[in-house]
Amino acid sequence: MASHNQITRIIITFVLIPLLTFQCHVCSQDKVNLSLYYESLCPYCADFIVNQLVKVLQTDLGSIVNLRLVPWGNTQIAPNTSWICQHGTDECQLNTVEACAIKVWSNLETHFKLISCIEQLHLQNKHSSWQSCFGSTGLSLNPIENCYNNGLGYQLETAYADETTKLKPPHRFVPWLLVNNQPLQESLKAFETTLKENLESSFIQVG
Ligand SMILES: *[C@@H]1O[C@H](CO)[C@@H](O)[C@H](O)[C@H]1NC(C)=O
Ligand SMILES: *[C@@H]1O[C@H](CO)[C@@H](O)[C@H](O)[C@H]1NC(C)=O
Repeated sequence: MASHNQITRIIITFVLIPLLTFQCHVCSQDKVNLSLYYESLCPYCADFIVNQLVKVLQTDLGSIVNLRLVPWGNTQIAPNTSWICQHGTDECQLNTVEACAIKVWSNLETHFKLISCIEQLHLQNKHSSWQSCFGSTGLSLNPIENCYNNGLGYQLETAYADETTKLKPPHRFVPWLLVNNQPLQESLKAFETTLKENLESSFIQVG
């Protein structure tokens, strides 16, 4: 498991503090690519999404970050091809629901609304009432049900499985965050450098 405090510290140091110091000017260029490899019912993942990533999206930082969510995580494929999710079959279902949300609403803010609602419920031990998220977000259940039932969700998850399995270096735990293709946990320096470079090319210092 990732150290939650470590992740929080990293985000605050390298993401939030620069945000307060710099102002965005050429936001469309040199965006920072963040990819989060996670699974829907891992408590650290839920916490990271609900309490950390949300800050990225609620601030100007959202405009310099390309955030991709990859809901597969530590799921295994059994020899008979069935999925074995770390936190049981509910997790397989919710990973697929979240994959469908990403596909159906390609806009990050839209699919993030549903995903963070589900993850918030999970933090409250209420993930089984995930369908209430459609009411609370105003998003429609139908396209997600269709995606889940018509096999698209399965295909999306298969592609995420493939992508996750091919990570180099392989992920060692979830949540696993790549910043411009560098795993955060193993390359703090690289992250710092990458973000600095992006900030230098994308921002001018204020004051
Ligand atoms: C497939 O294999 C897994 C793990 O060995 C097992 O739990 C599951 O019941 C099997 N599923 C089917 C449909 O045979
Ligand atoms: C981010 O990803 C996009 C699309 O995949 C790519 O074109 C771009 O070069 C990446 N940016 C960085 C800084 O790696």
